[in-house]
Amino acid sequence: MSKDYAFQRCIDSACGATFGLTEALTACAKCGGLLDVDYEWNSMPLPRSLADFEPKWQARRNPLHFSGVWRFKELLNFAPDELVLTIGEGQTLLRPEPEAAKYTGMKEVFLQYEGMNPSGSFKDNGMTAGFTHARMAGAKRVACASTGNTSSSLAAYAAASRDASGHRLEALVFVGSGRIAMGKLSQGLDYGAHTIQIMGHFDDAMRQVRAVSKSMGIYLLNSINPFRLEGQKTIMFRILETLGWQVPDWIVVPGGNLGNTSAFGKAFHELKSLGLIQKLPRLAVVNAAGANTLHRLYNERGIRWNGGKYDRAAIDAFYKEMDLEHREANTIASAIEINRPVNLPKALRALEWLNGAVTQVDDQEIMDAKAVVGRGGLGCEPASAASVAGLKRLVENGTIGRSERVVCILTGHALKAANPTVSYHSLEGEDLRHEFRDFGIKTNRFANRPVQVKNDLNEILRVIGEHDHGGWDA
Ligand code: F0G
Repeated sequence: MSKDYAFQRCIDSACGATFGLTEALTACAKCGGLLDVDYEWNSMPLPRSLADFEPKWQARRNPLHFSGVWRFKELLNFAPDELVLTIGEGQTLLRPEPEAAKYTGMKEVFLQYEGMNPSGSFKDNGMTAGFTHARMAGAKRVACASTGNTSSSLAAYAAASRDASGHRLEALVFVGSGRIAMGKLSQGLDYGAHTIQIMGHFDDAMRQVRAVSKSMGIYLLNSINPFRLEGQKTIMFRILETLGWQVPDWIVVPGGNLGNTSAFGKAFHELKSLGLIQKLPRLAVVNAAGANTLHRLYNERGIRWNGGKYDRAAIDAFYKEMDLEHREANTIASAIEINRPVNLPKALRALEWLNGAVTQVDDQEIMDAKAVVGRGGLGCEPASAASVAGLKRLVENGTIGRSERVVCILTGHALKAANPTVSYHSLEGEDLRHEFRDFGIKTNRFANRPVQVKNDLNEILRVIGEHDHGGWDA
């Protein structure tokens, strides 16, 4: 039984209230703050070194060892094995990518490709943990607000939760109408989730789903759920695993709701406290310029975690201004089109733990970086490419050195959002500017244009011959 080792704790040290493991909470019942899953580390069976996880590869027939999340179970030991819901998440890939290195001015860049998860994004790492806890808490219905990937992942796990007698967790997903990519919307519908399209943005959907969950007693699976973040810690464990348990110098991640940022900080903080790593990496969080709350608060207003005494009044004032100005998030990277990141305090804490940096990139930079990633053959959705675009900026401004070892997280699969990719590669001039008019994208210097040819062999041969001489990249 692992149950005895874990509990929930308010992250606000002035409060520090603790709660039982099986309570379904999305905020501290005492002060409303965010919750952590915490552990009685001293009483738990722990690996002596990270290499102790390696033998699990030989026992991959056990679904808990096959899972790239649960094979690290000793580091997220909150659930009895028999309640774990896994669909084979976390079989992901870390690889050096020369095109991205050249583009960002680095000697070498590693990309951690989370698009390989069953639902096509990193969310599955967290959802397996969240659903496992939902079962522990006896939930019947689960819900989330989403820009599309959380909802796809939730829908997939809900479908997989069907037991021998046909009972499954019922899934309810709230999305902003017209604000999510088609690939993502299609997944939720296909996997049988009840989909509520709110006439508004993600932030509106988030507010509504919180209220609905509270009033109807539905288990909430957004990243304010601390169990989800336990699963997302394992993205970092897998990076270390592929690097032979060596800690990189930097992790670069796109920032939306800041769940990953929070989880990655916690992962490394715990590993270091347990003596399983000797040094910490630094963390860079990249906002889209059209959804840049963290950038503004961190870089322009100097807000810091400050050991937990962060300036809440300044954050409140910032949001008040945002409302008065009717400022709405707007970016081609719809996955991170978020104004009020729910994990902001935890993200500030992670930035303190990992001596972090925050930057922002505009949509032109995002789409160019996305095309560069695509050329390497992995491909990703626009939000994911913010990490590579952000790295380029951080190298240019001297924050990251050219010879440092950097891992950029590619959070979602290229096929999640095919439309902007096809438009970027096919359109020219005024057509391109018009298509992307809301996002200020005017050029496509990495475009790979399709060539239209008549259905005629001689014509096809002529066109290919022309391109062979002129070069396909011209
Ligand atoms: N990248 C992708 C592809 C995402 O879908 C998200 C978040 C992020 C990055 C940002 O991650 O929230 O941990 O900072 N998508 C959420 C969703 C909001 O609803 O699918 P974060």
